[in-house]
Amino acid sequence: MRVGVLTGGGDCPGLNAVIRAIVRKGVQEYGYDFVGFRDGWRGPLEGDTVRLDIPAVRGILPRGGTILGSSRTNPLRREDGIRRVQDTLADLDVSALIAIGGEDTLGVAGRLADEYGVPCVGVPKTIDNDLSATDYTFGFDTAVSIATEAIDRLHTTAESHMRVLVVEVMGRHAGWIALHSGLAGGANVILIPEQPFDTEQVCAWVTSRFRASYAPIVVVAEGAVPRDGDMVLKDQSLDSFGHVRLSGVGEWLAKEIEKRTGKEARTTVLGHVQRGGTPSAFDRWLATRFGLHAIDCVHDGDHGAMVALRGTDIVRVPIAQATARLKTVDPELYAEVGVFFG
Ligand code: F6P
Repeated sequence: MRVGVLTGGGDCPGLNAVIRAIVRKGVQEYGYDFVGFRDGWRGPLEGDTVRLDIPAVRGILPRGGTILGSSRTNPLRREDGIRRVQDTLADLDVSALIAIGGEDTLGVAGRLADEYGVPCVGVPKTIDNDLSATDYTFGFDTAVSIATEAIDRLHTTAESHMRVLVVEVMGRHAGWIALHSGLAGGANVILIPEQPFDTEQVCAWVTSRFRASYAPIVVVAEGAVPRDGDMVLKDQSLDSFGHVRLSGVGEWLAKEIEKRTGKEARTTVLGHVQRGGTPSAFDRWLATRFGLHAIDCVHDGDHGAMVALRGTDIVRVPIAQATARLKTVDPELYAEVGVFFG
């Protein structure tokens, strides 16, 4: 039997670990052969493939990125997209397709499986950790570690100059990276997209921190918005791919803090550094287990299923369950962390 594999959406540390686990177990235990599709759904749309066998996955466990390439191409947005994917799978004699991706990529896999009978299995991935139905996604732990290390380093430079340092981390819709790295890094304020922030309150916390002779660190998720101003919302724009961009909340906030408190402020935007490089041990562990269970789903003919982490167990859930709604930060959890603000 031949199995197709693709990785879609933003790259994420651990993708190669999933691919390796799928191929190794698939070849060694089930005798399958594989075809890799290049650049997410663009591969099956255009019949663009890459060799995927044991030699191809040798040595990739600690490597960041994805050997298959990735894109945000969505066949559902093309008139003949579904038919082209189906034709490619038939031409290449692919009997099952494993899609490793976030909301968009899995949304396509779920609909292909449920509505068109295409034999898809899903593996959840995102550094944002905002997919429902799984406790954690791989990539998140690595991103949090990178952001935490950056915050640790920023403390010493903030203290040396008695400045405010605003750190902007990823998270358009959910503040998981901000919350976890901010807590781990001892930030004085953490701002998340789920809860519009009060700039005056942020400035009051900053000022109280200086009164205690410490230089404050403010962690802000890229999707956080002020409830008392529309400057960031005005900066909302669509990039050339049609994605919404809320640019510059970190820069905007540092300027406001300077204006309102009279304290010097600087911004560090961590950006794609959070997604790059080698995955943490936890992410390699989780990604490997997801891969092993995904190929078991294929073997069992469990199409339309997605692997997920529940506690310490890997379970199977309908793909649609993961894409139905985003997993956002619970207000109670956010309030718990608020004890450190100021
Ligand atoms: O979804 C993962 C993510 O890294 C988000 O945290 C971020 O907002 C987005 O992707 C960035 O997308 P791109 O790499 O396309 O700019």
